[in-house]
Amino acid sequence: MLTLVVAAAALNNGIGVNNDLPWRLPTDLAYFNNVTRTTTSTTAINACIMGRRTWLSIPRRFRPLDNRYNIVITRDTHLLDKELPPNSIALPSIASALAHIEQINSGQVPLDGGLLRIDKVFVCGGRAIYEEAMGMPGSVRILFTSVHYDGAGRCDTFFPPIDQAVFVPQTHASLEKLVGFPVPAGVQTENGIGFEFLLFEKQT
Ligand SMILES: NC(=O)c1ccc[n+]([C@@H]2O[C@H](COP(=O)([O-])OP(=O)(O)OC[C@H]3O[C@@H](n4cnc5c(N)ncnc54)[C@H](OP(=O)(O)O)[C@@H]3O)[C@@H](O)[C@H]2O)c1
Repeated sequence: MLTLVVAAAALNNGIGVNNDLPWRLPTDLAYFNNVTRTTTSTTAINACIMGRRTWLSIPRRFRPLDNRYNIVITRDTHLLDKELPPNSIALPSIASALAHIEQINSGQVPLDGGLLRIDKVFVCGGRAIYEEAMGMPGSVRILFTSVHYDGAGRCDTFFPPIDQAVFVPQTHASLEKLVGFPVPAGVQTENGIGFEFLLFEKQT
């Protein structure tokens, strides 16, 4: 099952500007890290699938995302050859990423000498990657931080519209059960910006 993780402007679904985040929300970044690092087993790590521009938008000192298996989607599958970051791979499509995860979990491609398997699979942007994942068969969930951001008009990258007849809003209790830790409910405020942690799930 795929889980998208995104912080988007409530006004227009803006997610980025100049290949960066439009806002500074440390609490949301900590939430992203906590969500994507938390596994259901000590012998597994989660996978984070992201587009090339999202990968490059992560400051060098923070990439690869630690304690996660980083999959960068790009037509340039030699992208990582110079740096060879640990627990990271460049692949040409989401389908090839999912096939690769299957190979790891079936032992065909050993991770950490075959000691590790992939637990949860997160889709971490950007736009085209989110859109393709939302249209995939089977259950798809969206961990959506709704950001009440005044500067939404400056955004140049947008999350696809969410049809709530398809992606149905879930309760806060369901969100906490999914992520596996307590999450503040309702609108939070940081740096003068309000934001709320939400969950949507595609009904199959
Ligand atoms: N607010 C949030 O939660 C959030 C999350 C993620 C990103 N962002 C923001 O979003 C922006 C980056 O997103 P983006 O949409 O511009 O770029 P992106 O999706 O991260 O990267 C685009 C690149 O990914 C590769 N790609 C995408 N779809 C592909 C496909 N079907 N097959 C093969 N390769 C594919 C291509 O790489 P090649 O050109 O190398 O082939 C494409 O140029 C930044 O501003 C970032 O800060 C925000």
